[in-house]
Amino acid sequence: MIKKIESLEDYKDQYQKSVESPEQFWSEIANTFSWRKTWDRVVDWDFKDLDVKWFSGARLNITENCLDRHLDTNGDKIAIIWEPNDPKESTIKYSYEELHQEVCRFANVLRKNGAKKGDTICLYMPMVPELAIAVLACARIGAIHSVVFAGFSAKALSDRINDAKCSLLVTADGSFRGAKTIGLKEIADDALESCPSIHSTIVYQRTGQPINMRSGRDLWWHEEMEKVGENCDAEIMDSEDPLFILYTSGSTGKPKGVVHTTAGYMTYAEYSFKNVFQYEDGDVYWCTADIGWITGHSYIVYGPLLAGATTLMFEGVPTWPDAGRFWEICAKHSVNVFYTAPTAIRALQAFDDSFVLGHDLSALKVLGTVGEPINEEAWQWYHELVGKENCPIVDTWWQTETGGIMISPLAGITPLKPSYATLPLPGIQPCLMDADGNEIEGNDVQGNLCIKYPWPSMIRTTWGDHERCKNVYFSNYEGYYFTGDGCRRDADGMYRITGRVDDVINVSGHRIGTAEVEDALDEHSNVVEAAVVGYPHDIKGQGIYAYIICSPEPEDVDAFRKELLEVIVEQIGPIAKPDKIQVVSGLPKTRSGKIMRRILRKIAEGATDQLGDTSTLLDPTVVEEIKSGAL
Ligand code: PRX
Repeated sequence: MIKKIESLEDYKDQYQKSVESPEQFWSEIANTFSWRKTWDRVVDWDFKDLDVKWFSGARLNITENCLDRHLDTNGDKIAIIWEPNDPKESTIKYSYEELHQEVCRFANVLRKNGAKKGDTICLYMPMVPELAIAVLACARIGAIHSVVFAGFSAKALSDRINDAKCSLLVTADGSFRGAKTIGLKEIADDALESCPSIHSTIVYQRTGQPINMRSGRDLWWHEEMEKVGENCDAEIMDSEDPLFILYTSGSTGKPKGVVHTTAGYMTYAEYSFKNVFQYEDGDVYWCTADIGWITGHSYIVYGPLLAGATTLMFEGVPTWPDAGRFWEICAKHSVNVFYTAPTAIRALQAFDDSFVLGHDLSALKVLGTVGEPINEEAWQWYHELVGKENCPIVDTWWQTETGGIMISPLAGITPLKPSYATLPLPGIQPCLMDADGNEIEGNDVQGNLCIKYPWPSMIRTTWGDHERCKNVYFSNYEGYYFTGDGCRRDADGMYRITGRVDDVINVSGHRIGTAEVEDALDEHSNVVEAAVVGYPHDIKGQGIYAYIICSPEPEDVDAFRKELLEVIVEQIGPIAKPDKIQVVSGLPKTRSGKIMRRILRKIAEGATDQLGDTSTLLDPTVVEEIKSGAL
């Protein structure tokens, strides 16, 4: 097993070693896994043509490392604790032995239904253990999983299925989210109207609501599981075979399928999990993310299971039945490590302290955050009220594309600084770039965040479009991976992420492209043009502000706004609903027709006195009109 970093000195030594002899550094870590064949070369890389390979020549199956290798010594240990949406329903626990059996069975179901190595399989499921089982079952047979967050609409689902040409869909009849029940199968049925590549659907029964089962296509999970055995040979994969695709939004165009491959992702997932959280044997670890996002992939499923940890999965929401739900679960399972998003912390902070104080949180040792910058006030509340000033907070900066945590404190080992992600993990070489594309040396500086050497879990390509991947991430600064984030390095060399520098909005820790929302709004027949920007929002971090030119002018603006929200829910899903919609007669444009988003952002922020020079606009008067109608 991977040895953890034990002290600040150790961290500094390891960091230095990782920069000076990266190949030796990573091969020692990789040696702790179970391989069918070890590698010929540790790393080959070329950022210009984007060709990165880790552990070339190696052969393995990641599920043998997540499951099989723990069975001899830890077969009875709890792998997954599942906590249902409704506290009145029972918790379910799977030991490593039981999880292995379920994964093997479901892998057999997939094979029986024609799935094989290299196929792409879409998973559109609630937060039930069967989602983790399905993820691992795909990996078991060498199929590439593409998990689509169950809050996405039929249109968003079909776009993702079609882009990856998935042959199979695994879904559920419905899902429970707080007081709501969502008809997932119904949404999937809509999506499948336009997904010719799907030949079978496997449906897990969660809610028991009535659904349509199309004969010849739809199969019940429980019936299929009865027809297969529990032995399933793992498909032996090449180190660089794709493990999964995960769609994420960028500043332009449709969401892209970020591709992660097998050996490097595996190595970094366990390495970062153990070191950041300083996971100790016997700890109960809980990450509140959804497996539909990268955080769930790396730090609910793969990282913890590779480390032989006990990982808790929660189906519900933080505020139902009341705002004490998270803390009740922490107390019930004596959670030791708790990892959540700043948006959840801010939402819970708004409720009375008694929701926290009413539960025994004495088992907590480490707290974590992810997904967006955490403001100091929320950090202090988390630290004092939840952590009783005893638990280090790891503010973990990373991205779908990075596969694992890149900049973060190591709990109890490296220093903390509120609202700072602090220091890079060993193996990660961050740098800041200036407007001319030069690296900014020294401390107490600010620039665009890049990474200058490959790391094992980095993005390899975007599905079906390698050029796009090169252009988005590797062309802004030659020889560097560009993150899209702005960043400060303070006098002590600590990093603080300041937010996106591109047209991506981070709403409650979810990435949403402005172009994606604009395209969706354009679907309304009265919309002539839409411009979308982010603005600071107390709970969500950023809110979505949409400026709309429409024709004919709406008679009832509120009714028109409602229609637009419906369009968004239909095209993308509720997470992309604009918080504010302003109907305007024109947009601020340069003489070449480019929308001046800088001005729209300032107006959305309420900083109308900081608009700067507007004289170069095609029609400066439009700014006055927008300002006067600002919401
Ligand atoms: O802007 C950064 C922000 O979230 C973006 C990545 O989003 P996504 O790929 O959806 O992954 C989220 C979970 C890893 C980044 O470009 N971000 C993520 N973590 C932090 C953060 N911003 C500030 N502090 C963080 N700890």
